[in-house]
Amino acid sequence: MTRRPLLAGNWKLHLGPGAARSLAAAIAAKVGDVAEVDVAVFPTALAVPAVVEALRGSMIGVGLQWASPHAQGAYTGTNSSVLAREVGCSWLLAGHSEVRRDLAEDDARVRSSVLGGLDAGLLPMVCLGESLEERRADRVEDVITRQLAALYDGLPADRAAVLTLAYEPLWAIGTGETATPDQAQAVHALIRGWLADRFPAFVAAETRVLYGGSVKPSNAAELLAQPDIDGALVGGASLDAESFAAIVNAAR
Ligand code: 13P
Repeated sequence: MTRRPLLAGNWKLHLGPGAARSLAAAIAAKVGDVAEVDVAVFPTALAVPAVVEALRGSMIGVGLQWASPHAQGAYTGTNSSVLAREVGCSWLLAGHSEVRRDLAEDDARVRSSVLGGLDAGLLPMVCLGESLEERRADRVEDVITRQLAALYDGLPADRAAVLTLAYEPLWAIGTGETATPDQAQAVHALIRGWLADRFPAFVAAETRVLYGGSVKPSNAAELLAQPDIDGALVGGASLDAESFAAIVNAAR
């Protein structure tokens, strides 16, 4: 089967509601009606309602950057998938390396957040990736398979098939240094092979594995041309409507 490309913009802690609404509208004007690929953006939680409103009627989905596994309750300072769904999100980002680094997120919490997202009816997009030290120590496979095992352990195939993965090598995030298409393809093939070994064939065949880490208009096409790269999770270049639209168009 052919997997439909998915291009996602992670706006991180940039843009309040006003600026996020303007960017969303500018992106929608350029690629809001594309039929051949899926597009999603992850604004800050505070800007989600404004972006949902700006994108109403377009094909572009909106997601939350992080969610507690709890639906609601005495969990001060957090957000939940249930509430994200209520304000119009369809996606949930989980396991981003910046959250792992800054908020002590670990594999177990990533998994619970993903399960909470699935229960709420969101589409989880889960980030995986190794640090530069781990790559230099030849530990890429160890790290990726550890993250995959923690995420998928005991998950039935029909739920596993709903997940999207994003391979984001830490050394390529915000550094301007991109994994080469061969380096990225090798890890994407490893991920798909891991899924194929553990689940019925449709899971590996349907799971979209995005690449993230300094994706820009100038390198998107060659990354997206790799057989196991099904899209991109874009940080910096997604903050500019023209650049993000160029990346979306590279996947069409
Ligand atoms: P950059 O595209 O800015 O390197 O960020 C990648 C990223 O972290 C997306 O989630």
